[in-house]
Amino acid sequence: MFPENKWWAIAESKTIRNKPIGLRRLGEDLVLWRDLNGQIVCQSSLCAHRRANMALGRVNNGCIECPYHGFRYAPDGHCTFMPCEGKEAHISPKMRIKTYVVREEHDLIWLWWGKEQAEYPPIPWFAHLLDRPMRWASGAVDWNVTFTRTAENLLLDIHHFSFLHRGVANFFSLTSYTLLEIDEQRKDDDFFYFSGRLLPEEAGSDKESKERFPLFQHWLRFPNMGLLDLAFGGMEFLVIVTPIDEENTWAYFRYYAQYINTWISRWMSRLAAWIEINFILPDDYKICLSLQPRHSSLSSLSLNKFVPADEGIIIWHKQYDSLLHSEESIEGSDQQVVGADSETFAK
Ligand code: FES
Ligand SMILES: [Fe+2]
Repeated sequence: MFPENKWWAIAESKTIRNKPIGLRRLGEDLVLWRDLNGQIVCQSSLCAHRRANMALGRVNNGCIECPYHGFRYAPDGHCTFMPCEGKEAHISPKMRIKTYVVREEHDLIWLWWGKEQAEYPPIPWFAHLLDRPMRWASGAVDWNVTFTRTAENLLLDIHHFSFLHRGVANFFSLTSYTLLEIDEQRKDDDFFYFSGRLLPEEAGSDKESKERFPLFQHWLRFPNMGLLDLAFGGMEFLVIVTPIDEENTWAYFRYYAQYINTWISRWMSRLAAWIEINFILPDDYKICLSLQPRHSSLSSLSLNKFVPADEGIIIWHKQYDSLLHSEESIEGSDQQVVGADSETFAK
């Protein structure tokens, strides 16, 4: 079960060209393709006839054609041709495949997961990222890790950096930056905002000494998108986490760079993405595979002994639980989710 009536990013635009592509997202087997106008179409990949995988087929004359007996389906899902019955055959309206509402924005494909609506809300995004074409590089992984565990690791847990990613931290001389100090934390609509510093223990306890260290800023667009301003050479790290199914998760990231020169930004973001995919995410994946239980939830949090640095994880789980179980409880849950009570932490 995943939160409904929301847009989920399911793929990067450039991955869908002329051929149908099969994807599994939110527990559904999907096929994505482009119609004659280049518009993205997203449908169930199961052919209505004998349920072959349409992703193995091809696009033919603005329709998707099943590889098994050549039945063709239009972008709205209805069958337009059944070769074995001939051109004049009556085609039952039941001979159709499920078609999903999709949009293409910010070089991503977004699937509407929920009831069809007369008007859909805007695609969730981080407004200040709009103006930076060609200044980012991306990557994606499929993890055999649950959605909640992936979200915990990639969106919320900052203080593992110097330990789990020791090699990278060492390279950037950040190994001693183990202390997490949150500077500000607030909730604006469906954003959580955190700012803070990772500090070495010897930074000193007075405000001035601490302020010599860079302040990171983290916007979390609930429940599955995060934007971390690393306070490191103008780099920002965007992460989007989407369930493949109950056991697996697709994680997509971008590094944005904002150096004066577009070319330098492009190459710096590519370098950062290369480091992420080759040195950082493999460590995260290995540790996430080891976490018990595999499925984390609000009720399983009591198995942990949390410390204050983990507060973001608790906040996220409370909000996520509300979202899953009742729309109404989200309305009144502000007090409950912002600022976890001290009883939650291990003493
Ligand atoms: S299974 Fe698709 S045409 Fe027969
Ligand atoms: Fe990590």
